[in-house]
Amino acid sequence: MESNPLLELFEKNQGRLIDKWTHYFDIYHRHFARFRNKPVKVLEIGVFKGGSLAMWRKYFGPQAKIFGVDIDPVCKDFEEDGIKVIIGDQEDRTFLRKLVAQVGALDIVIDDGGHTMKQQINSFEELYPKVKPGGVYLAEDLHTSYWSEYGGGLKEPDSFIEYSKNLVDQLNAWHSRDKEDLDVSMFTRTTTSMHYYNSVLVLEKGLVSPPTTRITGG
Ligand SMILES: C[S@@+](CC[C@H](N)C(=O)[O-])C[C@H]1O[C@@H](n2cnc3c(N)ncnc32)[C@H](O)[C@@H]1O
Repeated sequence: MESNPLLELFEKNQGRLIDKWTHYFDIYHRHFARFRNKPVKVLEIGVFKGGSLAMWRKYFGPQAKIFGVDIDPVCKDFEEDGIKVIIGDQEDRTFLRKLVAQVGALDIVIDDGGHTMKQQINSFEELYPKVKPGGVYLAEDLHTSYWSEYGGGLKEPDSFIEYSKNLVDQLNAWHSRDKEDLDVSMFTRTTTSMHYYNSVLVLEKGLVSPPTTRITGG
């Protein structure tokens, strides 16, 4: 097994509590490793006891700026060097717009907040455009898309999973033959890939050119 320094930080944690599904650590390290020891801006929605913010800071290194967002004002106490906590409701678009004006463009967004459908969709719609080309948006605990108490349910049109399936169409919109129903959008032009895992969706951003084919060979 390849070593995973993030998992090691989690396993050795003696500080503030961290609440994560263990299979997420491979996903995080696969998509986040290239940002380590760089001056990155990382925003995590969902602070809980502050342990994950401290873990991200250690993992990304001293040049990283970590922002935490939580609805619970107590989370402000978890600010420390390199870690800023902003209090607000991730479902509230007015708050989210103020938030992006405050923090600016981001390298990584992790949505580990309240996990209701509206929270996940509103946060995605307001924050995804602020992720830089080359950056990553990671939404976790997507199993709530199958749970009615979170606004989900199998094939429930308003679930985040169903919402994200429409993004798959937009990713491929270059090839649409029905431009009225599916045309190239800002999402198409700025998303290089979507990665589905158990309960997690990772979107990677970049400046995407219209696809071309070539044939080589004798
Ligand atoms: C699963 S915990 C976060 C765990 C933390 N990221 C960790 O790894 O230890 C979820 C957090 O989301 C916060 N939360 C719930 N609803 C929210 C909302 N509408 N806006 C912002 N934060 C919310 C809760 O207060 C709680 O601290």
